[in-house]
This record gives sequence, C-alpha cells and structure tokens, in this order.
Amino acid sequence: MITEERVRELLKPVQDPHIHKTFEETDAIESVKIKEDKGHVSVKVALADPNSGEQLQLQQEIVGMLKKEGATTVGLRFTELPEEKREAYMSEANEEQEANLIGQKGTTFISVASGKGGVGKSTVTVNLAIALERLGKKVGIVDADIYGFSVPDMMGVENRPQVRGEKIIPVERFGVQMISMGFFVEDNSPIIWRGPMLGKMLTSFFKEVEWGDLDYLLLDLPPGTGDIALDVQELLPSSKQLIVSTPHPTAAFVAARAGQMALKADHEILGIVENMAYFESNITGQKEYVFGEGGGDKLAEVLNTDVLGRLPLQQPYDEEDTFAPGVYQEDHPTGKVFLSIANQVIKRAK
Ligand SMILES: Nc1ncnc2c1ncn2[C@@H]1O[C@H](COP(=O)(O)OP(=O)(O)OP(=O)(O)O)[C@@H](O)[C@H]1O
Ligand SMILES: [Mg+2]
Repeated sequence: MITEERVRELLKPVQDPHIHKTFEETDAIESVKIKEDKGHVSVKVALADPNSGEQLQLQQEIVGMLKKEGATTVGLRFTELPEEKREAYMSEANEEQEANLIGQKGTTFISVASGKGGVGKSTVTVNLAIALERLGKKVGIVDADIYGFSVPDMMGVENRPQVRGEKIIPVERFGVQMISMGFFVEDNSPIIWRGPMLGKMLTSFFKEVEWGDLDYLLLDLPPGTGDIALDVQELLPSSKQLIVSTPHPTAAFVAARAGQMALKADHEILGIVENMAYFESNITGQKEYVFGEGGGDKLAEVLNTDVLGRLPLQQPYDEEDTFAPGVYQEDHPTGKVFLSIANQVIKRAK
C-alpha cells in the first residue's frame, strides 16, 4: 500500500495552475491520510484559486497519479492558500505573464471597452494615450479591434511599420507607439479572422513588435459583448479596463454587460468614461444633455467603480499643418478632460 511519504513525494512537482509554482514551492499539501484496510487515500491541497475550472483537470491528474501507485480510492479536498502567500504568488505570476508578452516588466496594460459600438472607444484610447504622453509617460497602443481598426486614421498615420530583423517596429505619432491591423491590410478591404488566426494575430501584436520600454500599453477592444469581443478579452493579458459609455440608460445597461465580461476574463475595472455627455453651445454657453443624463453614474454604481471623466460632444480644432482628425489638442476643452482622466489613471493603475 502507498505510504504518506510516497504521496507527498509524488505530489511535490505538481503545479498550481494559477501561479505556476509546484506544490513543494507553495507548501500546498496540508494533510495526507491513509486508510490501509480500504486502500483509501485522502489529501488536502491548498491552491491559489480553489474555485476555478482548472481544478477539475488537476483533480483528475492527482487521482490518476495516486491510483497508479496503488490507491483504491482517493478523496481530494482543495482549500485556499493563505491570503498573503496567495497575493505574493499571484502578482509574481502576473508580472511574469506581462514580461513574457512584450518582453519586459513594469508595463501596465489598459484596455478600453464598451458595450455598444460607436460610443467612442477608439477616441478614448487614442486621446488617453496622447494625454499620458503629454504627462511624460512612455505609451503604446495596440489597436485590437482587428475588424474595425480605426486608430491609424484617427491619428492621421499614413506610413506603415518597418520591419527590422524578426521584429516589427511600431509607428510613432505624437510620441505614442502604435500597431494596428490596418497596417497589414491592402486597400482598406474587409477581413475575416477566425478563432485560431485571431489569437495568432493578437499575440504577434505583443510578441513580434519591438515595443521598447513602455509605462502603459493601451488596447482598443472590438465593440460589443459577442463572441469576438469575448475571445479578444480572453486572449489579452490581464489588464485594467476603462469602460466607455454614453449617458443614455440603455447604453449603460449594455456597457454593464461589457463590464461583467471583463471581470470574467480577469480584467480589473479601472473606471468609466462617459462620452458624448453633453453639448455646450458656443453661442450661449448652455449645456444640453442630448443623450440624457445619469448613465455613467448608474454604470459606476453597478460596477462598483467611478466615472473618471465626461467628454462633451465636440470635434477637435481644425489644424492646417497637422492632420489627425481624432486627436484633441492639449488646450482644447476635451483635451483638458483627457489630461484629467490621464492623471486619475496614473493614480489608479499602479
Ligand atoms: N465626444 C465626441 N464628440 C464628437 N464626436 C465624437 C465624440 N466621441 C466620438 N466621436 C466621433 O464618433 C465616432 C465614433 O467614435 P469612435 O470611433 O471613437 O467609437 P468606437 O466606440 O471606437 O467605435 P467602434 O465601435 O466602431 O470601434 C467617430 O467618428 C468619432 O470621431
Ligand atoms: Mg473603435
């Protein structure tokens, strides 16, 4: 019959699926009991996250191992690692994941999502990136909206990325590094990416691009709460997420679903940006709440977060010498709101 020592020995190299540490490293095996007469082995194991889907697979793995060594039946119980240990391992694991993805540590990933299309995700991504740059940060953008890419057009980018050796050099505009599906499509023609290709494409946006040293990498997500948006959310590294919504109650309801989806895919919600919040008359200075009021606050309440800024309905100033139709100037009222949002993001997204 298998002994307690043998059980402990066998389980040492098994990995905790969430933190990629072995049971030996995390001191996970809390108890081993053997009932010799019945051939029953019961084991209690502490995991970083004992309530996840990976647990089932792990359970089968362990039961299989012990049965192979002579146990007739196996009783397995999972508990949670002590809070302190768990947090330390989790943040280590997250950092490693980020480091793998763009080859460096210390970059904060910020994703920008919305429930509905056309509410201003790309506008927020581009202008927040530029505002962070104006505050002295090193910033990159991944246009992860691979069907509806619009970041290059908004920033007025006309050149394409260079390739150096095995790596793609991102395009730089206004001091921000950027990569988009738009660079790899001929003549603006529509494209269809299916599951596996989608994953490959997104992964190469991180791994095959020479990002250099970044403080923030912003991700413009595809709109909606459907399959594609979900796939992309799942494929992305864990990020802090900004949710963009209009003040209209129905838009806020849909945005709340996007928020739930983000949490499910392991993204943390950073805050809400209410776009097209009001129209301010140039002539009278009066504010009109064209799309209603209160959607952002409601959403913040549901998702237990805050509204970081409200953007008025207004286009950037026309400039003769700089073409970038979606970029608000630093002294533009909307540009100032973006600076304020950027300051809050810096404080929140550590
Ligand atoms: N506050 C605003 N004032 C005026 N126009 C705006 C404002 N915000 C966004 N727009 C315009 O609305 C359109 C949609 O915005 P944007 O492309 O940023 O939305 P999106 O959520 O990224 O859309 P999609 O779902 O298609 O990716 C753009 O033409 C943009 O210039
Ligand atoms: Mg967009």
